[in-house]
Amino acid sequence: MPLPIAELHLHIEGTLEPELAFALAARNGVTLPHADTDALRRAYDFQDLQSFLDLYYALMDVLRTEQDFADLADAYLARAAAQGVRHAEIFFDPQAHTQRGVELGTVVEGLWQALGRSEERHGVSTRLIMCFLRDESADSALATLKDAEPYLDRITGVGLDSAEVGHPPAEFREVYEAAAALGLRRVAHAGEEGPPAYITEALDVLGVERVDHGLRCLEDPALVERLVRERIPLTLCPLSNVRLRAVDTLADHPLPAMLDAGLLCTVNSDDPAYFGGYAGDNLDAVRRTLGLDEERLRELARNSFLASFLDDDEERRAR
Ligand code: ADE
Ligand code: ZN
Repeated sequence: MPLPIAELHLHIEGTLEPELAFALAARNGVTLPHADTDALRRAYDFQDLQSFLDLYYALMDVLRTEQDFADLADAYLARAAAQGVRHAEIFFDPQAHTQRGVELGTVVEGLWQALGRSEERHGVSTRLIMCFLRDESADSALATLKDAEPYLDRITGVGLDSAEVGHPPAEFREVYEAAAALGLRRVAHAGEEGPPAYITEALDVLGVERVDHGLRCLEDPALVERLVRERIPLTLCPLSNVRLRAVDTLADHPLPAMLDAGLLCTVNSDDPAYFGGYAGDNLDAVRRTLGLDEERLRELARNSFLASFLDDDEERRAR
């Protein structure tokens, strides 16, 4: 029996497996530039975040209809459930779809078809987190939040993702203030490739409750002390860090040192179809390669529920 966990850092578009990409391409009459699934997999050789994002956005072209988004999310939830995920807080990137003519309603209604029946079908409770693309303008983020108003009963929070360096969190102050006024929870990617100052800005300017990645906090001891003191969760993604070269090898991953420092770490999959593993695979990999014992694994599982947006009763039921 896998350890029950909550997954808190998962881009639904990053769960698009090559087989499903080709099936959706055929269904929608889209021609992919790759000959077959093997050729597509061979393209998963990333130098950094941007080289991954280029392929990630290009492949989204196959996602066109509500059914496509429903099939994508249902496939993720089935895989996640098999690896012990009992609760998933799922990111989506609305601008990556609306910019290519797919309406926000198509995305949200489609995802909701799968999320709405996930507890019954997969035993996985869910939340949806709408991410703004930080390499698009703050005005575009504001317009996206406005477009999302009819769907806010299905959206728990907002996030910030895409190319980090050169796009500091403070640019998105206004949209995060508006999101907070609407009662939305707030998270943001920070300190994946960007400097520790972006983590501080995400906390102070955007008011985030959780930091996605946060790896580079280690370069600033005062920031580490603050994250420990304020019990700010970090949603780490070890296999992603290796594949996007944020760390040299998994054996170099600072997770054990971060846990020793008292940081509230969780282990997640980010974009599992691209990075070689789902949530349970990430936990297995760190257990084997970093030698984490049972106590540490239980701590990571406990942290994942603590850091989730479940209320206390829901948390108890999910564990
Ligand atoms: N979008 C999807 N995956 C991402 C990541 N790891 N960092 C930033 N943006 C992303
Ligand atoms: Zn991410």
